Amino acid sequence: MILAIETSCDDSAVALLDMDGKIITNQISSQTELHEKYGGIVPEIASRKHLTTLPLLLRHVFDQSGTGLKDLKAIAVTYAPGLIGSLLVGVSYAKSLAWMAGVPLIPVDHLEGHLLAPFLDHKELDFPYLGLIASGGHTHLIIAQGLGDYQLLGRTMDDAAGEAYDKVAKMLGFQYPGGPVIEKLASDCPKASIEFPIPLKGKKTFDFSFSGLKTAVRNEAIARDLYVEKQELISYETFSKKPESDAKVMTRDIAASFQKTVEKIVIQRFEQALKVYPQKKLVLTGGVAANRGLQKGLDKLASGKKISFYYPGMRHCTDNAAMIGYTALQHLKRGNVPQNDYLRLNASSRSPISQMTVSA
Ligand code: KG4
Ligand code: ZN
Repeated sequence: MILAIETSCDDSAVALLDMDGKIITNQISSQTELHEKYGGIVPEIASRKHLTTLPLLLRHVFDQSGTGLKDLKAIAVTYAPGLIGSLLVGVSYAKSLAWMAGVPLIPVDHLEGHLLAPFLDHKELDFPYLGLIASGGHTHLIIAQGLGDYQLLGRTMDDAAGEAYDKVAKMLGFQYPGGPVIEKLASDCPKASIEFPIPLKGKKTFDFSFSGLKTAVRNEAIARDLYVEKQELISYETFSKKPESDAKVMTRDIAASFQKTVEKIVIQRFEQALKVYPQKKLVLTGGVAANRGLQKGLDKLASGKKISFYYPGMRHCTDNAAMIGYTALQHLKRGNVPQNDYLRLNASSRSPISQMTVSA
């Protein structure tokens, strides 16, 4: 069995997989309640919470599966990219466990974990594919030719897709994470009436940009007297219990119009990339892949082109340790285990995939 640990951001996650990649248990302890009122993640709070949560989560995983350190063949850990304090907690914990169990420690790039996450739910998926990793920290359009063989076509030049959702939600007065809130507001509003500008429109690029869109949303929110700066942030549930008002209608309209624009941006990039690099399989992955509007839009694009579209199951879109274990296992099977002294492994805020240069 392989034990996987993921603490790159605000979720503490531990999973156990058998050597065929079957998930035995996949536990996630979310810190959302600690961060939501700030409208984003507070790094110091995140790392402290990982420190207290990880041992409890591991105990739970072992108790639930009736296993222990003696059953492990390897330990996988996310070493990069992410919040350095959070990563350090996971890496240090994984190192000491690997040392105690006397098994190899396999460092995993969080972004590779996301890129391979759809394999957890789709056994028929195979390389090559055109994939978009859209998370709170990254927006990378990649051709995955094979394990470890990735070509970066484009990336965000400013905010990540998930970050844009989080910031727009915060402007409108909503707690972190913003993606699920915007999605719910948008689904309550059948007509999105605002035409926000499409960033990088007409440019021959596979890159993304969300900052101009974010400013356009901010201006719209200010113009309609909805922009929230210092007020206490609320949840979608609190918002939906408020009496109906023009402000509620306009808030939904802005959210739906933003959602529609993000859908257009993502679909356009896939279309452009497919023209130059025809592929038979599309993948959307990372936290933003949980968005049903994006899923539906890409599903339509794929079926129109008679190609396949995959996204991970809901639990495997956002951060989880199962994808880290799965990725480590693929490398382990091919003998890609670092030979150097793993006790020297360091956490890093950057990874090979996060730093790849665009080669389109
Ligand atoms: O992959 P992830 O869990 O963490 C990172 O690696 O960053 O992604 C978190 C991001 C957050 O920005 C969150 O707002 C976004 O994913 N997200 C969504 C949805 N669910 C989560 N964005 C759009 N629609 C959703 N349903
Ligand atoms: Zn992630």
